[in-house]
Amino acid sequence: MKILGIETTCDETGAAVVKDGRKLLSNVVSSSVDLQKKYGGVVPEVAAREQIKVIIPVIEEALIKASQILNSKHEILNKSQKSKIQNWAKKNIDAIAISHGPGLIGSLLIGVETAKSLALAWEKPLIGVNHLVGHIYANWISLDNKPKFPLIALIVSGGHTDLILMRKHGDFKLIGTTLDDSAGEAFDKVARLLGLGYPGGPEIERVARQLTVDGSQLTVKLPRPMIGSGDFNFSFSGLKTAVVNLVHSDEAIVHSKEKKSAVADEFQKAVVDVLVKKTVEAAQKFSCNSIVVGGGVAANTLLRSQMADAATRIDKKVFFPSKTLSVDNGTMIAAAAFYVYKKINPLKLQADPELHFT
Ligand code: KG4
Ligand code: ZN
Repeated sequence: MKILGIETTCDETGAAVVKDGRKLLSNVVSSSVDLQKKYGGVVPEVAAREQIKVIIPVIEEALIKASQILNSKHEILNKSQKSKIQNWAKKNIDAIAISHGPGLIGSLLIGVETAKSLALAWEKPLIGVNHLVGHIYANWISLDNKPKFPLIALIVSGGHTDLILMRKHGDFKLIGTTLDDSAGEAFDKVARLLGLGYPGGPEIERVARQLTVDGSQLTVKLPRPMIGSGDFNFSFSGLKTAVVNLVHSDEAIVHSKEKKSAVADEFQKAVVDVLVKKTVEAAQKFSCNSIVVGGGVAANTLLRSQMADAATRIDKKVFFPSKTLSVDNGTMIAAAAFYVYKKINPLKLQADPELHFT
């Protein structure tokens, strides 16, 4: 079964074609991040205006690439052949999946209304996918092993930090969440405090990597919030405040490369220590076979290596999507739709900025 997945919950516009939930045929993502950089964060209006312009070209490109991979001899398409692209989709796509929340309302509406229109025009089933469920299912895109149930999923994105217990496909039990900021938000805010660019995660990672032996001797110590709380909840706003206090107590931090690297390094370690400890504890408590991680922060190299080490110590298998599929994309939406296939009447599907796990 070939599913066209569409993703527009934040500033990315993604479309992808995935076969049987695992085989990637095409993945196209257009991001307004360069436009957003000058504002230091996502401006919803800027994101939505850009998405209106790019959504159809992005979908067309995903269809063209999929047709090339499938290489059905007479059907090598190019972007000027609008009606041929449509005909190819009508013949080859089995369903359309759209991430209808949570996210920014303007951005969601563009994806949802486009997906509804295509489903009606092409007479295809429409599947509504929770964006966070999509982040989990990015881990099924691979030719090697796949995660085994029961599993713990850690979702670490710009808006969420959630621990989910899954006993089977489509069964999501929220066992812990952040009480305030998400991990991604903390990366973005701390990057801003240090005078770094947006998005903050990759910037913090880059600056932390520049830490030299001399810099590592600077004593920067940050808290590991709620690390011993005995539950699976998180809190990152105190950590952000600790960085604010540090920067206020020593203004040289934002001007000194060494000091900035030392703070970025310690901040990243603090976030990763908490995420890893709680995830591993949850995997042990619920006797899970696998740990899966998803969301933009899953692209973080330190998180990937520390989680892998900790999982090996307790003899669990850990899965991360590729770095490209950790951040928002249409592939994960198509993959999730295959495993959690819930058809919906296109006229009934609503964009839902606050969508919860169901
Ligand atoms: O999942 P995502 O692409 O969008 C949302 O659903 O929010 O996540 C975006 C978040 C941003 O906060 C960004 O700073 C963070 O993921 N991020 C990272 C890295 N790459 C992206 N955080 C830490 N390290 C990274 N390499
Ligand atoms: Zn996301």
